[in-house]
Amino acid sequence: MTEARGDSALPVSAEALLDRLLAEHKPGYALARAFQTDPGMYQLDLERIWRRGWLFVGHACQVMRPGDYIVFDVDVDSLIVIRGDRGQLHALHNTCRHRGMKICQTEEGQAARLVCPYHQWAYGRDGRLLACGGMDRDGDLDRRAFALHGAHVREVGGLIFVCLAAEPPPFEAASGALGSMLEPQGLERAKVAAVRHYTVRANWKLVWENNRECWHCAANHPQYVKANYDDAPLDDVHLRAQIAARAEATSAGLRVHGLTIDYQEAGMAPFPAPGRWWSINRTPLVPGWVTESMDGQPVAPRMGRYPTRDVGTLRMRTMPNFWSPASGDHVVSTRLTPAGPETTRIQVQWLVDAEAVEGRDYRLETLLPFWELTSEQDWQLCEQNQAGVRSRAFTPGPYSTKREYNVVRWTEWYLGEMTRPARGVHDGRSLP
Ligand code: FES
Ligand SMILES: [Fe+2]
Repeated sequence: MTEARGDSALPVSAEALLDRLLAEHKPGYALARAFQTDPGMYQLDLERIWRRGWLFVGHACQVMRPGDYIVFDVDVDSLIVIRGDRGQLHALHNTCRHRGMKICQTEEGQAARLVCPYHQWAYGRDGRLLACGGMDRDGDLDRRAFALHGAHVREVGGLIFVCLAAEPPPFEAASGALGSMLEPQGLERAKVAAVRHYTVRANWKLVWENNRECWHCAANHPQYVKANYDDAPLDDVHLRAQIAARAEATSAGLRVHGLTIDYQEAGMAPFPAPGRWWSINRTPLVPGWVTESMDGQPVAPRMGRYPTRDVGTLRMRTMPNFWSPASGDHVVSTRLTPAGPETTRIQVQWLVDAEAVEGRDYRLETLLPFWELTSEQDWQLCEQNQAGVRSRAFTPGPYSTKREYNVVRWTEWYLGEMTRPARGVHDGRSLP
């Protein structure tokens, strides 16, 4: 595999700024404004997080046939994730080896060969240069030296991840847990029923901070709190007993099929932890709700090999760019990508069983609103949060240990990644 090597020399001032911010940071308090606004800090985020870790790209069901591809942009980089001739996936940098033209312009597509629109250099699905007709040096051009640059790609449980680093972090532990928990959901046999794209005027870290607590839910997500126990404080003893009873009732129908409700606490499952970039758990819905829809009633046919309607929700998250709650009849996946110090691009997809037919088996009017409303309410909160953090008067305030324990964890994870030594040669400063 060839590696893409951008010029990643960072301005010294960004590193100096990080050192100062780290020295000033109070554990248990919000991050300083510069983390959410400064262009140099944004570049450090790209270098130390987005170009190091595993990034969620999309779903295997989007690229089932050889030649199906998804284009995935991460700041200045663009990848083509394409199904190869023998079924394996390839992640290829979307920049022509001739003069750098972006080869695929659309978000997804189908291609027998990847043909650059500028001068028609043609690449195979594995990135090999097949033709560069018209080159006056065609005869002595070594085509093997001009394959598209590659990136790492993995597929697990119907999810696709890529890594831009030369030496990616381990994937096996995440793969084992995600793979076994996702198996009954049947994501490989799903289809995308709807997709929404958002450009959110907030730093990607504020989007995660918003996602990692549900203290804001009661006041901002009236539909969401009807279905879930997420907004309760972690030590709510009364609610814990109710959740345990509900979990037991749901588990009773699932256990014979090898499934269980493994998270039975009030509040959200603790995540992330330093060095731990993935998690997955199943948790119950409130009594009377069998799916995350506006009224809790089914909105699509059962997915995968679920034996019953009530399977709680299967929830997964991977740092730095993915979360997905899955009900027994549909899955909603959210993908973040950074697009500037104060801009995050967000894609939300709704998936149902591959055989389900719109109008007959599901209707978008009932499938979408629960998570469409919740998402858009959150994006608005994030933008207003960014606007307030931008103020010269902003000073970081304390997190609640009972309501924002996951924001504390998130901040520790983030600062840990920012101060972790680089692996391999992916960090431009250690390139020869
Ligand atoms: S830039 Fe791609 S063929 Fe010329
Ligand atoms: Fe929210």
